[in-house]
Amino acid sequence: MGKESDNTRKYKVALVGCGRISSKHFNAIKQIPELKLIAVCDINKEKAEKAAKEQGCTAFTDYENMLDTAKPNVVSICTPNYLHPEQTIMAARKKIHVLTEKPIALSLEDARNMVWECKDNEVELFVVKQNRHNPPMRKIKEAMERGRFGKPYLCSVTVRWQRPQEYYEQDDWHGKLSKDGGMLINQASHHIDAMRWLMGPVESVIGVGATLGRKIETEDTALAIVKFKSGALGVIEATTLTYPHNLEGSITIQGEKGTAKVGGTALNKIDLWHFKDFNNDDDNIKNIGVMNPPDVYGSSHIDVFKNVVDCLVHNKKCDVDGMEGTKSLEMIHAIYKSHRTGKEVKFPLEGNETVLDNKF
Ligand SMILES: NC(=O)c1ccc[n+]([C@@H]2O[C@H](COP(=O)([O-])OP(=O)(O)OC[C@H]3O[C@@H](n4cnc5c(N)ncnc54)[C@H](O)[C@@H]3O)[C@@H](O)[C@H]2O)c1
Repeated sequence: MGKESDNTRKYKVALVGCGRISSKHFNAIKQIPELKLIAVCDINKEKAEKAAKEQGCTAFTDYENMLDTAKPNVVSICTPNYLHPEQTIMAARKKIHVLTEKPIALSLEDARNMVWECKDNEVELFVVKQNRHNPPMRKIKEAMERGRFGKPYLCSVTVRWQRPQEYYEQDDWHGKLSKDGGMLINQASHHIDAMRWLMGPVESVIGVGATLGRKIETEDTALAIVKFKSGALGVIEATTLTYPHNLEGSITIQGEKGTAKVGGTALNKIDLWHFKDFNNDDDNIKNIGVMNPPDVYGSSHIDVFKNVVDCLVHNKKCDVDGMEGTKSLEMIHAIYKSHRTGKEVKFPLEGNETVLDNKF
């Protein structure tokens, strides 16, 4: 199915995976007049039926059956990370547009296949990176695009979050290399995406990871040094071991003529804002987005869905398409590759990097 020409027609949305993040999708879809949720699917029948009852739509326990029977225009994929590629490709081959939760995939090969399948079948592939829409993130992006930092020097990403052992034991996928992928792919992916989005193309990465405090197959802590093509440097410090709870998820940019930091628990608050030049909204800047969201998922899924409508109905640009989702994943794989090889890793990564090669 191509893009809609009739602006008054509702886009039919189906959702797969009625777990924690699905409520953000349900709330967003409800608020957008152009969208209508027609079906939900979960292999857990109770979860599917509960969500269908609450949302007033049809429940399915088989994904392919949902796509064939409900015939949605768009499917929203909220299943565990390792299922995103096969569920995206199945939808694309049925000419259904896809919005997948982050991460796009666990391996670069899968991510690239997803991009190609969607392109071949002329459907859009959207990847959820909702934090890009947070008002403070929009402001820092605008400052960067207007050149307010002058020459960019240094970008620092800090993820000091806490995921207790029980978090990893609540189901069969968290903390598993082949299903979850690791702390960088799961938790730090928003911040690493933000770094690349704000600072531009990456030249090389040196990284190291470790499993220090949890009984899991993946890293719970990682560090990286990033060289950007612009000449600027970057540093990433990320962990899910922070005592006693989530303390910080932030990005700081320092340049020749400016320093700014977006922090809060979910990149939702401006902590530092100093620029040589003055802008009219600078006086009020710290009040932008100060409201702390109820959880680290933030409040911006609605903007992700608005972009889906803008793109499909109004022919506007897709904010985070499959290629963008793949570029963030490439950065994470570069950190893993550097950890494995003990070497600096140059971009682009040509291989089919996968988390399965990682040992921590
Ligand atoms: N954007 C964000 O900030 C954010 C936050 C949390 C999670 N996520 C992402 O959302 C996705 C889901 O995370 P979650 O925390 O909601 O997980 P979850 O475990 O709470 O929910 C996943 C659901 O998928 C169902 N499921 C599993 N296999 C299925 C299949 N083959 N067909 C249909 N249903 C199936 C499970 O029964 C479960 O209900 C993950 O990719 C995660 O990385 C994104």
